[in-house]
Amino acid sequence: MTPRTPPAERIVGERVLLRRHAPANLATFQRWYGDPEVARLTRYQDGPMRPDEIERFFAARVIGPDTFTMAIHVLATDRLIGSCAFSQMDGDNGSALYHITIGEKDFWGRGYGTEATDLMLEHAFTQLGLHRIALSVFSFNERAVRSYQKSGFLVEGRAREAIWRGGRFWDEISMSVLDHEWRRRHRPEHAGRGDARREVAEDHAEGLAAGGGSLR
Ligand SMILES: CC(C)(COP(=O)(O)OP(=O)(O)OC[C@H]1O[C@@H](n2cnc3c(N)ncnc32)[C@H](O)[C@@H]1OP(=O)(O)O)[C@@H](O)C(=O)NCCC(=O)NCCS
Repeated sequence: MTPRTPPAERIVGERVLLRRHAPANLATFQRWYGDPEVARLTRYQDGPMRPDEIERFFAARVIGPDTFTMAIHVLATDRLIGSCAFSQMDGDNGSALYHITIGEKDFWGRGYGTEATDLMLEHAFTQLGLHRIALSVFSFNERAVRSYQKSGFLVEGRAREAIWRGGRFWDEISMSVLDHEWRRRHRPEHAGRGDARREVAEDHAEGLAAGGGSLR
């Protein structure tokens, strides 16, 4: 049976440490989300967020109670390099939306984001009792699509030409991974189990209201 544990305070991987954000991380968020290159990959709106928008986003969606958000640190140095989160945690249906931003651009393409996603999926499926993790990604963000595929997400649909960026329309790709798919990859001996997970997810989703906001 899926263990009943509250959302973690710390998750330790091979090269990545996930832990709850500290209020002092706001200054780093301002730098990340004020960067047009990060905004291009992560925002529905064209252009970066204003500093006051970032502050509101940080208060509501990063250190607030509405999402389960973890800071991504390099395990060896403790450097803060990004943020990842589950929003819209839905206990009735055992589902959540996943979001990740490695804000430090010199850490793109070095496997840290994929490891953070792997750790979040393991937590979702073995501790939080979730059944389905979904996300959306812009079709021009090939690095992200590849990273999500490496973590086990499958493409389940496309919103055709939903995003106007760089002078043309792009599709928005929907991806998801289900608990039994994840178990088959990582815990083949438990692939058929976990049917009590919905009840567990309901417990943990209490107080985690559906998140709004403009970031993926
Ligand atoms: C998306 C993100 C989380 C991925 O994490 P990461 O640690 O950089 O990803 P990885 O290094 O593990 O993997 C990237 C994969 O994409 C491939 N890749 C990199 N750049 C690419 C490109 N321009 N086109 C196609 N593939 C690319 C890499 O080769 C690698 O695949 P491989 O391991 O099979 O060789 C991270 O880059 C990030 O946060 N980027 C900025 C914000 C963002 O895009 N967030 C997601 C919004 S939906």
